[in-house]
Amino acid sequence: MQGKLNKTVFFIGFMGAGKTTVARKMAKICSCECVDMDYYVERITGKKVREIFAEGGEEAFRKIEAEVLEEVSTGVAPRFISCGGGTVLNEKAPAIMHENGVVLHLYSDASNSARRISDTSTRPLFKDVQNAKKVFRERLPIYEACADYTVDTTNKWSNQVTKEVFSTLVKAGVIEETQE
Ligand code: S3P
Repeated sequence: MQGKLNKTVFFIGFMGAGKTTVARKMAKICSCECVDMDYYVERITGKKVREIFAEGGEEAFRKIEAEVLEEVSTGVAPRFISCGGGTVLNEKAPAIMHENGVVLHLYSDASNSARRISDTSTRPLFKDVQNAKKVFRERLPIYEACADYTVDTTNKWSNQVTKEVFSTLVKAGVIEETQE
């Protein structure tokens, strides 16, 4: 697989959906940049996401996350952006994403994500599967409303998901397939 990316792609979806991994793989395939919002937050604050939650709560994290979304979205060559699972909770987020690119939902429910997340302490909002199921139920309509495209990741390895993301974006004209 090889291609040229014509528009920025925002990956949204629940914790553990594989947004970071798939964005990295897609960036390799399209020889472009990828940005991981959680890492970006950690880099500019010098703190781990879980430390920001512990010190200032979810509110403090969401404030930084909203600023980061504006910063990484605008004025650059097309690239892949892996958002945090809660980035879409910011009411301005869908408009920012759609003004600057397309939105792809990597669908993963709480049980599927639980199989992927080895250390839930890095995700303060995941906690346990029971809590994660509740958060997922609240989030799903928000992901669905924001997404231009959805790829189901249930029981799939990241290489399979990457293939499906590639073909979805080629079909949509967001990636122009090129010869290897
Ligand atoms: C969150 C998801 C996390 C991270 C933070 C909050 C959420 O990102 O931004 O812990 O609210 O769903 P991942 O989706 O990359 O785990």
